[in-house]
Amino acid sequence: MHGQAEPISNIARPSRATPDSQLASLQAYESAHSFWNNRLFAACRAGALTKADFQFVFSQYYLYSKNFTRFLSGLLANLDDDLLRSRLTENLWEEGGGAAPEQRHAQIFRNFLTAGLGIDVAAIQFESCARLFVDQFLANCLHASALHASAFLSLGTEGIVSRSYTIFVEGLRKAGIEEQQLEFFHLHIACDDAHAATMHDILCSFREQTDWEPQCRSSLGLSLDLRRDFFDALMNEVQRRRVDGHLQRINQKQSLLGADIRDEQLRFLPAEKQGATLYANKVDAMNIEFTADRAPFPAEVIDTRVVRIPPHKNNERHKHAHETVFYFVSGTGRVMVDDRWIAVKPGDSVFVPRWAVHQSQNLGATEMVILAITDFFLTGKAFVGDYESTARMRGAAH
Ligand SMILES: [Fe+2]
Ligand SMILES: [Fe+2]
Repeated sequence: MHGQAEPISNIARPSRATPDSQLASLQAYESAHSFWNNRLFAACRAGALTKADFQFVFSQYYLYSKNFTRFLSGLLANLDDDLLRSRLTENLWEEGGGAAPEQRHAQIFRNFLTAGLGIDVAAIQFESCARLFVDQFLANCLHASALHASAFLSLGTEGIVSRSYTIFVEGLRKAGIEEQQLEFFHLHIACDDAHAATMHDILCSFREQTDWEPQCRSSLGLSLDLRRDFFDALMNEVQRRRVDGHLQRINQKQSLLGADIRDEQLRFLPAEKQGATLYANKVDAMNIEFTADRAPFPAEVIDTRVVRIPPHKNNERHKHAHETVFYFVSGTGRVMVDDRWIAVKPGDSVFVPRWAVHQSQNLGATEMVILAITDFFLTGKAFVGDYESTARMRGAAH
């Protein structure tokens, strides 16, 4: 006798992953996505953004924030299930401030812009990257299947709020924004878990569809791609805006010698101490001893300094984003530039390219005085990062 035949439907059906393991796989895909390496987040973590940078970033993000209820409404219009529509309406209601519309999230964000960053909201001009991001976002919620819109908004939007806003808060704190101004972010780090749960249930209502997981992955990926590209575009703009004033003044063909600039600010004698002390360091174990003063020139690109090194001492071995020309006023010795040593005496000049490791050693019996002409006032603005920590020995005393 033959055994009882296996039902054909069982044999033919591939072993399906459970929804939980599919969700875990989608969440693993999300948390490893290149979105998390976007340059805006990297700058927030590094404390590299100033209040002015954030004024620009969040004035652009405002377009997204104030349109958020439209994204939810797009999904709402595409949902067939009336109970799920009711639950999504609850999300919308809370986003709208519930019975207190002055507490709607768009208004809380506007309050952050006004009180926290000092932005005149009415004067904001949205860049094309912000318009494109918001247009694409809305189209993906309004003109796509409910499964696509729910994966886009749940896994790819609500699900990343807490981690994303924690990174923004880190950057804002490092830029000196006061804690009480960060309500919008704290509110979402704390409360959007409930919103995410509703979105998750909407998403799982479609899980009987055979291609549920690959569709979710594709929608999630698109959402994260769009946001990564938006944030990277904002960082491009942050960098451009930092040096934009320089570019404009270069092309205006007008003297920058203002009436408020005194003659004394135009003359500098490196033999005398007449500038502001920039830094100094002394580490006996490494034979380090030097001071660096800054000339009072009202320059916007060139930063002129005087480095003084006592006999038989040297300065720190270091590197930085700015270019430097050393002119040796007094003292004899040598300069290390990456793997080369260049002998120097009074009247010599040495060029140090950007990011080349360098060090000056005074090998003689008289003080070494170096006039160092750098482009620090330009590169200091253009460099996104903690300039001081890249250029100086850690823990060095000023
Ligand atoms: Fe919100
Ligand atoms: Fe240097």
